[in-house]
Amino acid sequence: MTTVLAIDGPGGAGKGTVSKRLAESLGWHLLDSGALYRLVGIAARKRGVDFANVAQLTDIARDLDVEFRVAEAGELVRTWLEGEQIDHLLRTETAGSDASVVAAIPEVRAALLQRQRDFAVPPGLVADGRDMGTVVFPDADLKVFLTASAEERAHRRYKQLKEQGLSANLRALREELQARDRRDSERAAAPLKPAPDAWVLDTTGIGIDEVVAMIRERIAGILSSGESK
Ligand code: DC
Repeated sequence: MTTVLAIDGPGGAGKGTVSKRLAESLGWHLLDSGALYRLVGIAARKRGVDFANVAQLTDIARDLDVEFRVAEAGELVRTWLEGEQIDHLLRTETAGSDASVVAAIPEVRAALLQRQRDFAVPPGLVADGRDMGTVVFPDADLKVFLTASAEERAHRRYKQLKEQGLSANLRALREELQARDRRDSERAAAPLKPAPDAWVLDTTGIGIDEVVAMIRERIAGILSSGESK
């Protein structure tokens, strides 16, 4: 039996860091579903595919030759696309906004559905995304919807990019985040919204350590009561 923890929410809410920390400390698998949408965009750009060409984008999503490997030295995940390591492209703002465009296409989402579900193998899975609790894992054992004010999310993204040595402009980041939130929330296919049974956790002003501890406490409760589905 696989316990599934779904973590959804808008960009910059800390899902990535929180999910990674939870997966590491629980010894569970991690699905970074946003990376899959980013990879479709990156592959499309590499091949010069028009972002309006639904059929070609869907083919790319279906045949995506991707591998996530853990680096030998530690927990660092390396991403290989068609045999090429592309981590330096994955977190750029271009990859993020391209991902949000391809993610609005229902055929692309459908093509990635089973691939995402295949990540749910014992002992457990932390699934990070926008529709983990609503579409991909509707029976997840715990659904968390992480959010934070737009101001704080833009600040966090800014810090993250700077730490990675990437250039960033706070105002542009905030505008881009808000545009992406709008696109993600207003699209017809699997829009960004909390599942009816999700725990909505506003992390504005709360540090990552505390957020991780709060979620761990809930998981511990679920595991000890044997409520896991
Ligand atoms: O979490 P992220 O920034 O890597 O996500 C990139 C884009 O992909 C984001 O704009 C929304 C989209 N996405 C999605 O639609 N569904 C998911 N499960 C994950 C990401």
